[in-house]
Order: sequence, then structure tokens, then C-alpha cells
Amino acid sequence: MKNTVITIQKQKENNNKITMLTAYDYCTAKLMDDVGIDCILVGDSLGMVMLGYDNTLPVTVDDMIHHTKAVTNGASNALIIADMPFMSYQTSVHDALINAGRLVKEGNAEALKLEGGKEVCPQVEAIAKASIPVMGHIGLTPQSLHKLGGYSVQGKEYKTAKKLIEDALALEKAGAFAILLECVPSDLAELITKTVTVPTIGIGAGPGCDGQVLVYQDMLSIYDGFKPKFVKQYAKIGDMMKKAFVEYINEVKSSGFPSDEHIFKIDKEIIDKLNEEM
Ligand code: KIV
Repeated sequence: MKNTVITIQKQKENNNKITMLTAYDYCTAKLMDDVGIDCILVGDSLGMVMLGYDNTLPVTVDDMIHHTKAVTNGASNALIIADMPFMSYQTSVHDALINAGRLVKEGNAEALKLEGGKEVCPQVEAIAKASIPVMGHIGLTPQSLHKLGGYSVQGKEYKTAKKLIEDALALEKAGAFAILLECVPSDLAELITKTVTVPTIGIGAGPGCDGQVLVYQDMLSIYDGFKPKFVKQYAKIGDMMKKAFVEYINEVKSSGFPSDEHIFKIDKEIIDKLNEEM
């Protein structure tokens, strides 16, 4: 069954947890879709886990379009949400609309996500009014890395916690179909989840959210950069890949690969004749 923003919102009503993972390419998206993931986020985290940047700030709209197209080619049931990268929406409502349109028209995104609370509500409202579903993202917002002074838990004090609740309500009012909560205390995330009618998706926000998301390279232990406390490593795929690469290197060096089962044959007379001619 094809998931849409409507089916995702129904999941909150039915107390059916929403599953989301990031993906940035055709094969990974297809694997996730095959096993029934509800949503795939083409996150601007691709700047770090696919392109090797130190943070998400250099990611462009063209990068997002390129990877979103690949993901939509691989997934037929999951709802595909693409991130709006740094400076593609902060500059003005007009820029936000133009770039949102490009991500949908050129990238085939079915919904978008952008970071920020009340300050981006005019953009959220305009994008939603253009019939493009948009998800909010509050708490730790990696595009504000330099303002926040690092990747730390947000909303631990009364004032900052209250601001997150107000931001969530403002985003809902502006037309966000869901809100992602990153790195906020579990009890606060649960309170926000009870306060808004749209689904909340948590990452580092505890089990009280309506759904969860993880970056797939983190949960498979492929990314060797920083490992946040909230990441659960479901498999050690990085180690398995390294083992396979070593085996390949050794077999090529020792002429163990390719073996008979991996080669194409030619008639002996033809090769003998060619040999004679040389
Ligand atoms: O870019 C990203 O991958 C995100 C995470 C919060 C999942 O936004």
C-alpha cells in the first residue's frame, strides 16, 4: 500500500508507530521499501554520510534533487520526504517556494522537511498552501550548528522547553503535516506529542513520539564519524564490508578470483588459430 501524508497521520490516530529511515540511493531505498518501511527521509545528512563533509551546511538543492530522484526510483510504497538544505528556504518565502517546487518537480519528492520553529512558519505556510506537504524539524537543528555551538540536547531548561512546545504548536498551525523532534528530553517529546494533533517523529527524543527515524549508516555501523548516544547499531555492516573487501583484494592478488564460474568461454580452435596468427 502506498503511504501518503494522510496514511501517516492516520497512524497517529490509530496509535500505530511510524517507521522512518534515511536513504540516499536506489538500492538502499528499495531494500527498505521491500520490507515495509513507512517513510524514507532523503536527509541533508547526505552531506556527511554520502559526500564526506564535516556538517550539512554545504549541501545544495541540486544534491538533494539528485539523491531524491534515486530514492523515488527505488521505493514504491514508502512516503518519500526530502530535506530542504541550508539557505534554500531561510532567505525568503519566495526562495522557499521556488526550491520546494524544484524538489517536487525535479526530484519527485512527495513531501519536504525544513528546520526551525516560529521563524520559518511563513515558509511552512506558503509551501503547504502550494499543496506540498511539509514537515517541521525542531530541537537540535543541524543547520544551526554554529549558532547552537555544537550537537547537544535541546530544551532542558524551562524557557527552552516552553519555546519548543510553542514552536511545535506554531508549526502545526502553519500547516506542517508532521514534526521531527531531534535530541530533546524524552518527557518533553512525549508532552509535545500529546499537545499537537500531527504526528511527531523522534531521533534522540525517546519512545513517546509517534514514530522514529535513524540515519541508516548509523544504524548499520557504516559511518565511522561521531556516534550519537541515541543511535542503536542493529548490525555491523561496516565490518562485514571491510571483511569482504579484504577477501577480494587477497583473492585477486593470489589469482583466486575470477575462477571458472565467473568467466566466459570461447571455442578452443578459435583461440588456437588466433594464437598462431600472433
Ligand atoms: O538529515 C537528516 O538525516 C535528518 C535526521 C534528523 C534524520 O534530518
